[in-house]
Amino acid sequence: MTKEFDEVLVREEEIRARVSELAAEISRDYEGRNPLLVCILKGAVFFMADLVREISVPCELDFMAVASYGSATDSSGVVRILKDLDANIEGRDVIIIEDIIDTGLTLSYLFKNLGARNPATVEACALLTKPSRRKADISCKYVGFEVPDRFVIGYGLDYREDYRNLRFIAALPEEKDE
Ligand code: PRP
Repeated sequence: MTKEFDEVLVREEEIRARVSELAAEISRDYEGRNPLLVCILKGAVFFMADLVREISVPCELDFMAVASYGSATDSSGVVRILKDLDANIEGRDVIIIEDIIDTGLTLSYLFKNLGARNPATVEACALLTKPSRRKADISCKYVGFEVPDRFVIGYGLDYREDYRNLRFIAALPEEKDE
């Protein structure tokens, strides 16, 4: 399947190695605690599933779905919750798991929204970041890779719901990125 894509940005082996490193960092930082990993649907599902299996401290999982108003490719900064957490996070150590930080507006909203529920701590872990697109000033403690300002697909990231199941991360061919 790799052949179709001339611009593979992160190979499968690189993803696997980096996910292990991030899991080791999280396991060290959360030693003796019981973090709640909050997966932001849908893109972060694959990342979360691989990450959590490499984490060595006991942890729990929850899921949230959000959508930003505005066009599919440009976040407006106004976010609505499509599916909220099942868990009460008061007093919990929460780690938000994202596939990508683009403008940062979604993560900024999530920090505010989850922070208002009185957790003990809230941090974020994102597989990818596109710093060139940043609009919100956010700090993400755990980051996998920086990617250029291209439309990225694979390993959870979609183009019109397609390509999420690629094992690697690629740039969408420019002719499709209209
Ligand atoms: C993506 C990504 C983040 C958000 C980042 O989700 O998973 O949640 O956009 O963008 P921002 O930093 O500009 O706010 P998307 O809306 O594509 O949903 P999906 O994961 O269900 O595909």
